[in-house]
Amino acid sequence: MLSETSTATVRATLPAVGAAIGDIADLFYRKLFEAHPELLRDLFNRGNQASGTQRRALAGSIAAFATQLVEHPGTRPDVMLGRIANKHASLGITAPQYEIVHTHLLAAIAEVLGDAVTPEVAAAWDEVYWLMANALIAIEGRLYAQQDVTAGDVWREWTVVSRVDETPDVATFRISPADGTPAPAFRPGQYVSVQVELPDGARQIRQYSLTGAPGSALRSFSVKRVRGEGGPEGEVSAHLHARLRTEDRLRVSAPYGDLVLDGSDAPLLLASAGIGCTPVLSMLEHLAAEGHGSPVTVVHGDRSPADHALRADHAALTGKLPDAAAHFWYENYGSPLPGLPGPTEHTGTVDLSGIPVAPGTHAYLCGPLPFMRAVRSQLLGKGVAAADIHYEVFGPDLWLAQD
Ligand SMILES: Cc1cc2nc3c(=O)[nH]c(=O)nc-3n(C[C@H](O)[C@H](O)[C@H](O)COP(=O)(O)OP(=O)(O)OC[C@H]3O[C@@H](n4cnc5c(N)ncnc54)[C@H](O)[C@@H]3O)c2cc1C
Ligand code: HEM
Repeated sequence: MLSETSTATVRATLPAVGAAIGDIADLFYRKLFEAHPELLRDLFNRGNQASGTQRRALAGSIAAFATQLVEHPGTRPDVMLGRIANKHASLGITAPQYEIVHTHLLAAIAEVLGDAVTPEVAAAWDEVYWLMANALIAIEGRLYAQQDVTAGDVWREWTVVSRVDETPDVATFRISPADGTPAPAFRPGQYVSVQVELPDGARQIRQYSLTGAPGSALRSFSVKRVRGEGGPEGEVSAHLHARLRTEDRLRVSAPYGDLVLDGSDAPLLLASAGIGCTPVLSMLEHLAAEGHGSPVTVVHGDRSPADHALRADHAALTGKLPDAAAHFWYENYGSPLPGLPGPTEHTGTVDLSGIPVAPGTHAYLCGPLPFMRAVRSQLLGKGVAAADIHYEVFGPDLWLAQD
């Protein structure tokens, strides 16, 4: 809860800070990386820095947090904090690093807003920062405890047990802990961070959703190679595709992520597009293993059957459920692949208008933002409650702070 004096000051300065938050985030990262170049090299995703998406996510989250503090005192944006904390935990972020971010963020605010930042204004925004930071530190502490690791100690060496090239652009890697200990448990829908050393010596990190059943001894994830149409090729995905082979070692974090099945008996709708099918595959494995009997509707959109990674698994796992239907949409069929028993195939992009959606459905979405926006509005139109629509963004979540 923000103190009364700070609430008034934050309310008065929120429009100015909000209007300048993009510039503040830019300057903050410049200052942070000048002082700590190792953070850009080995912790932050430099693709997201180059494209500006991480800056927008940070700025949006701080503005949303401050707005909630002054407009709804006593409440907290828990969904947003949970999403950030899960990402932080998968990266091994620790409390002392919040001091470093504090120094450069507050310096950026002072420099961008100039004379408007009186000692009183600085103190009020300092309070906002630490309320948010301490909330994140507390959630991250719980997430580390859940995995039974000391704060930040999430990284382990794994061995690649097998590699399967599913499509020309998607490869699945099965991995097991290099020291022979059991793989840490995960919940269907969660992801790991993977860190690789690139040819220039940078040790870049990316997240990959775990596929496969949570109960199995191995872990697996599928990587789509980012070909960089209109931009550079994806650094880590291209590296994994070009270099990672059976018996190689890989640095992988403990599993985290908040897009997880809630365990209820509600009807489910699992909607994905492209490589966004990976968390859905893990959810289906889990539902099949536990003999889930409630209705499940599986929806997937892809460019063509040949581009649809794990297509046969997607169909077969749906087929294992007693009350499930799958609908796959392809923008074009390309060279035809054999039809699969089970799924209904459609031409075009995902369109739920003819798909029955049971009352009380809980929906899980994963794919590009325009796809998720379209599916979400169709689901709202069919009476699904906004609170029952969950989603994962395969990058900084720019949607969250706007919702
Ligand atoms: C929770 C989560 C789960 C995920 N699960 C999966 C999964 O299961 N499977 C999967 O394949 N992916 C998954 N991802 C995505 C994955 O983490 C990576 O983002 C993806 O592999 C691309 O990484 P990259 O290093 O290859 O690309 P990057 O190098 O990070 O590039 C990403 C994009 O930024 C653009 N870019 C880079 N540099 C610049 C520049 N200088 N100027 C302009 N544009 C630029 C690139 O062209 C590209 O389009 C997940 C992401 C998250 C957050
Ligand atoms: C109050 C302080 C902080 C806020 C508000 C904040 C906010 C965010 C947000 C919104 C994201 C994107 C989450 C997502 O949607 O995936 C993120 C990711 C991240 N944060 Fe923080 N963060 C804070 C502190 C820190 C600290 C102390 C560090 C470590 C130095 C850190 C490192 C990272 C990294 C490395 C990522 C992933 C970046 C990427 O993938 O591009 N953050 N943070």
